[in-house]
Amino acid sequence: MEPRADIAVIGLAVMGQNLILNMNDHGFTVVAYNRTTSKVDDFLANEARGTRILGAHSLAEMVALLKKPRRVMLMVKAGAAVDEFIEQLLGVLEPGDIIIDGGNSLFEDTIRRTKYVESKGLLYIGTGVSGGEEGARHGPSIMPGGSPAAWPHVKPIFQAIAAKVTDPHTGAVEPCCDWVGEGGAGHYVKMTHNGIEYGDMQLICEAYHIMKDGLGMTADEMHAVFKEWNTGELESYLIEITRDILAKKDDDGTPLVDKILDTAGQKGTGKWTVISSQEMGIPITLIAEAVYSRCVSAMKEQRVLAAKAYKPGNPRIAGDRAQWVEDIRKALYASKIISYAQGYMLMRAAAKAHGWNLNYGGIALMWRGGCIIRSRFLGDIKAAFDKKPNLENLLFDPFFKKAIKGCARSWRKVVSSAVKKGIPVPAFSTALAFFDGFRCERLPANLLQAQRDYFGAHTYERVDRPRGEFFHTNWTGTGGRVASSTYTV
Ligand code: 6PG
Repeated sequence: MEPRADIAVIGLAVMGQNLILNMNDHGFTVVAYNRTTSKVDDFLANEARGTRILGAHSLAEMVALLKKPRRVMLMVKAGAAVDEFIEQLLGVLEPGDIIIDGGNSLFEDTIRRTKYVESKGLLYIGTGVSGGEEGARHGPSIMPGGSPAAWPHVKPIFQAIAAKVTDPHTGAVEPCCDWVGEGGAGHYVKMTHNGIEYGDMQLICEAYHIMKDGLGMTADEMHAVFKEWNTGELESYLIEITRDILAKKDDDGTPLVDKILDTAGQKGTGKWTVISSQEMGIPITLIAEAVYSRCVSAMKEQRVLAAKAYKPGNPRIAGDRAQWVEDIRKALYASKIISYAQGYMLMRAAAKAHGWNLNYGGIALMWRGGCIIRSRFLGDIKAAFDKKPNLENLLFDPFFKKAIKGCARSWRKVVSSAVKKGIPVPAFSTALAFFDGFRCERLPANLLQAQRDYFGAHTYERVDRPRGEFFHTNWTGTGGRVASSTYTV
């Protein structure tokens, strides 16, 4: 068998199939393989018919078709299946060959797998691929990390098939794909993307909730609002699909969205983001609330009982509707800025902890097109990092500072009114609470430190002494002289 294929893709579920077709469109010869081999025949006879896509019925046959160094991309379910395929591939590949995992794998697994595959003399890439079915087919956002030596071999394929965006400042057309960093960096950035995706979705849902219950707006009226919002600074894929969802009618002519059960699912990447933030000590409060909001929504039976037990009052908000809609838009925009500032804080901390040299502007560019959180807004984030590559926090960028200040009044108005009316706005309000805490020069943590020292001799630092000097007070007169050591679990 003549080795003529550029890359193999294992796993013919929706993402795998569409990536293969995308690679084929860009002139690459792809071998398709699937554990259930009848899927290969089915794919070749249907979606891949008339293309140069090849099929393999065994890993050995697949490997024989590949040019060296061989590139094999796994598009299988994250978890055990990835480890199983790696093990099998190590038996048929050679040193220098490259294994790529394009699923939503946990970054710690990718760190482990990169080390393992490298120890066998091969190279490994763990890459985020975002954009769903449509993105995979016509241009996803691709976030690769792993063995740096693998990147030059994979770059031409990935950058060809990725979404393209025009840099608003340089005018250059750039692929939404670049090298992210070593080990699990690519999957970490993808995980953070998903966390932010959870946050964006929750913010949109809260805006919808206030418009629906607070302002009594119909789906058609809200469709018009989202349509309008999508022409301004909120322009994004998620606003766009919300606009279209609100216009969709069920067979009986009523809005389909009203027929959908209000219990959200989740596959775990948002949860991973929050777990990692806890490990890093970074307050990504908005993403955390977005994850918990999905959990609350899933408690449907208990919520029905609680609604009967606590009967919420009338949620209607009085006042000029157009003004309220504009206030909600501003609350959403300000909260979104907080969410991205938090997400970037998390990536910065993770980069430090794992020794990754992340390019923050480059990440914004990768997310600017192709992926689920793609938006005009990410162009502004890219611009902020272009101006100041080592920008410590997005909230210190003059553009975002001005934006937050311009939204503050509406943001407070929306959160306080929703609270008064009993409409849950966990993401809007946690964003505001974070903002107020972040810009508070003196928080009440002095009292908290006193409490810790009082009951556990945990010590405190003083405002009139240099940082790093710790003091203990015998608050009751009956405590001992021994202070607890300072440590972090
Ligand atoms: C993407 C998405 C995708 C994710 C789905 C579902 O970037 O294309 O993030 O990777 O799997 O959005 O996620 P949940 O089921 O957790 O909502």
